[in-house]
Amino acid sequence: MKGLVLAGGNGTRLHPLTLVTNKHLMPVHDRPMIYFPLQTLADMGITQVMVILGGRSIGDIVELLSDGQEFGLDLTYRYQRGSLGIAHAISLARDYVGDDAFCVVLGDNILRGEPMTEIAREFEDGPWGAGTLLYRVDDPRRFGVAEFDADGNVVRFDEKPSEPKSDSVPIGVYFLRPGAFDVIGKLSPSGRGEFEITDVLNHYTNNGGLYARHYAGQWSDAGTVTSLLEASLQAAQENR
Ligand code: G1P
Repeated sequence: MKGLVLAGGNGTRLHPLTLVTNKHLMPVHDRPMIYFPLQTLADMGITQVMVILGGRSIGDIVELLSDGQEFGLDLTYRYQRGSLGIAHAISLARDYVGDDAFCVVLGDNILRGEPMTEIAREFEDGPWGAGTLLYRVDDPRRFGVAEFDADGNVVRFDEKPSEPKSDSVPIGVYFLRPGAFDVIGKLSPSGRGEFEITDVLNHYTNNGGLYARHYAGQWSDAGTVTSLLEASLQAAQENR
């Protein structure tokens, strides 16, 4: 399996912290935010990773991570022009991914607790076309939100709905296969002008094509001032 870390966007929810630098360089306790998604992929046993860069100070990210040796990774970089969304960023990795299954981790997502190796292997060996992990949150309106049928299967995801159908959200970890590139190619931008990952996942929710289950560890995104602080406090507590 190959890995992708998405480190584009303008980090507007962290302004003014990110007015002159890249969100993914922000400290989460004792290390830059982007170390966490790289570690998540490394923990899955993935070694080949493409980092998709965009926004400010991307040279600093390359300088920081260099070739990835410190993480046991072999890193490649790609530039994303503009803020056209997660699905657009993924589409830039088509040639890199080739025929392999791959795992995408958003650059501000922090996972700890449940080991990822088994999850990655289960997806890779299984019949699903796409997969994600779910997490229960207090404020689902700021995420994609899962809607379930009576058997507990996800029937669809809504991106940032005003009336969430559940409190379970897809976290920023996506398992995909090369077929996803054709799905992305047929998408239209959403109301916020982005190619949404939830639209990609929705393509797979029929016919049991989607792998989705709740993550048993601890998850946070660190993309807002409050969640950045909480992620730092959690990381500090764990290191104590
Ligand atoms: C993105 C996805 C959303 C997902 C979230 C997880 O939101 O669009 O579906 O729940 O990541 O972090 P964004 O951070 O782009 O607002």
